[in-house]
Amino acid sequence: MRDHGDGIDAIHVPRLTERFYRVDGHRSRAMGGTGLGLAIVKHIINRHRGRLTVTSTRGEGSCFAVVLPIR
Ligand SMILES: Nc1ncnc2c1ncn2[C@@H]1O[C@H](COP(=O)(O)OP(=O)(O)OP(=O)(O)O)[C@@H](O)[C@H]1O
Ligand SMILES: [Mg+2]
Repeated sequence: MRDHGDGIDAIHVPRLTERFYRVDGHRSRAMGGTGLGLAIVKHIINRHRGRLTVTSTRGEGSCFAVVLPIR
């Protein structure tokens, strides 16, 4: 999934799937996020022995890719 939003600074990317981690806590809470979304996504993918990769460029957008084994 690709978006053309604000993008995420590289220092934050490795921590995005931590429970309750937010890049900008105040703004995220104002928008109603719980900080659990990507943690849950990673859990589900791991259970399927898959992999989540996030690439992002500040000011350009983000790409969230899921790789799943066929069997
Ligand atoms: N597409 C995105 N573009 C920019 N920042 C993002 C994006 N997705 C997530 N983030 C940042 O990563 C943080 C963690 O994301 P996550 O999806 O786990 O939680 P959330 O979006 O805050 O809450 P929830 O998904 O539970 O509603 C967000 O709070 C936000 O700061
Ligand atoms: Mg989310």
